[in-house]
Amino acid sequence: MKVSVALLGFAVAATALSTPRNPSKKKPNAVNPKDFVYVDGLRLKDAKGLHYITGLNYWACLNLAADASQGGNYSRLVTELDQMAAHGVNHLRIMASSEGAPTPQPFRMSPALMDAPGKYNEKVFRGLDICLDELSKRGIRATMTLNDEWQWSGGFAQYVSWATENTEIPYPPSWNMTKAPQRSNPRTGWGDYSATADGAHSYNEFITFANQIYTNAQAEQWYKDHIKTVITRRNTVNGRKYNEDATIMTWQLANEPQSLSSYSPSDPLFPWVNRISGYIRHLAPKQLISVGLESKQGEQIFKAVHQAPDVDYATTHCWVQNWGVYDMYNSSEANLKAAQDFATAFVANTSRWAREVGKPVFLEEFGMVRDNWENADKEYPYLSSASTTHKDAYFNTIIGAVVADFKKGGAYVGTCPWAYGGIWRPETQVMNEFGMVWAGDPPHESPGWYDLYDTDEAMNIVASQQQNVAAWIKKNQTNGY
Ligand SMILES: *[C@@H]1O[C@H](CO)[C@@H](O)[C@H](O)[C@H]1NC(C)=O
Ligand SMILES: *[C@@H]1O[C@H](CO)[C@@H](O)[C@H](O)[C@H]1NC(C)=O
Ligand SMILES: *[C@@H]1O[C@H](CO)[C@@H](O)[C@H](O)[C@H]1NC(C)=O
Ligand SMILES: *[C@@H]1O[C@H](CO)[C@@H](O)[C@H](O)[C@H]1NC(C)=O
Ligand SMILES: *[C@@H]1O[C@H](CO)[C@@H](O)[C@H](O)[C@H]1NC(C)=O
Repeated sequence: MKVSVALLGFAVAATALSTPRNPSKKKPNAVNPKDFVYVDGLRLKDAKGLHYITGLNYWACLNLAADASQGGNYSRLVTELDQMAAHGVNHLRIMASSEGAPTPQPFRMSPALMDAPGKYNEKVFRGLDICLDELSKRGIRATMTLNDEWQWSGGFAQYVSWATENTEIPYPPSWNMTKAPQRSNPRTGWGDYSATADGAHSYNEFITFANQIYTNAQAEQWYKDHIKTVITRRNTVNGRKYNEDATIMTWQLANEPQSLSSYSPSDPLFPWVNRISGYIRHLAPKQLISVGLESKQGEQIFKAVHQAPDVDYATTHCWVQNWGVYDMYNSSEANLKAAQDFATAFVANTSRWAREVGKPVFLEEFGMVRDNWENADKEYPYLSSASTTHKDAYFNTIIGAVVADFKKGGAYVGTCPWAYGGIWRPETQVMNEFGMVWAGDPPHESPGWYDLYDTDEAMNIVASQQQNVAAWIKKNQTNGY
């Protein structure tokens, strides 16, 4: 079964990414704080030459690294960072923001970095310092995400609410760990999405509300104040100024800022990208800037956003199940192939658009569920016991497509799957005193949906990508590239 499914993947990807059983335990060198990654044409470079990103999403790093009194767990943090480093990971996309609410919600990161405009939880901020210091020691650089379209970190909607006298936020359906069904042991889940009867609104209503951030002057001012506070901070662990530390490769405007549903030259997203990226540039001239766009809405919006002069490279997120291409209860090879074909075309299209804009592009989010048809009649649809035949075949295809594009001089510069859950599992989860379990999936979605676990084959696929590309770069540079 496993072999026949894997063989469905494109031959190039499957052979190029043969799986190492024992990823190297050797630790890469620490990041030299002066070795800033820079853009050269369609490539990223650092002092060693070509820089290819083998990334993972690890958005909760600041909370895991925070003091135990804030729900942090240092031992889990260093265990997981060591696991990722041992698989060749050289980049993590993390949150450098999270906003609290006057009324706490179960589906938002807690405790937040910023409780109210300008009012910080210094213990969580120190978590971000610790996170960056631990990354730096392991040779891992970071994308620092400064805001969020979605409700799980507060984000746009929270800024808009603050700026409009705490207007109630029309939250869309969001995971609630204490909703039925419940397990017999308290605080272990399962839970469910909130429904209309619980007060949930539509995603359209929510986006319309959240996107007022593009035009609300007060919300924008508070957001810029936050940007300045983070970028000019001095790390309390290693004494480095954030904007003088090459561990921070990129400042990212927001996670998945949404445009209007189709291209319009007057979309307020475009001037907002210009204003905010220009503001970041003058505070952080040595580091890179990206937007965090999914790039799901076609060529015109992709180009309008990414041609902003202070945006250094484009970003893409590829979500086959969320976009209706893949059905997680359908075990057929045709279903898998539909996902693989979509991903391959998405990578080809966005590589071409990026080349036309003249900038590199980074696949900084994609995910695939486990073989959840095995869980269909069980107590929870996302049990970690399900196998991963589709996930592994899909990872080989999409990562293979990016690696192939990179090798032939295309615009792609790396991949970054969603999201590292490490040692966490839904079966053994226990909510902490803040209601958090810190799965790879953020708290507004069912925990375990897209998690990558430390024992997953997908981590070996990530590791072989890194080894394969590193060998190619070495050979290519020897030959005078
Ligand atoms: C912290 O992480 C360790 C693994 O490193 C785990 O065994 C322990 O249960 C975690 N503690 C809490 C309070 O979650
Ligand atoms: C979560 O579920 C519990 C139990 O059903 C309910 O009391 C609570 O109001 C819910 N919270 C939200 C924000 O929907
Ligand atoms: C599974 O997916 C394939 C490909 O999309 C489709 O042709 C087939 O009808 C699906 N089967 C079921 C039971 O939905
Ligand atoms: C790729 O672009 C073509 C048109 O150029 C379009 O028809 C197709 O839907 C796109 N595919 C994806 C997955 O973006
Ligand atoms: C190095 O890469 C470039 C494209 O990026 C390619 O044209 C060239 O053939 C490569 N050289 C070797 C030796 O692989």
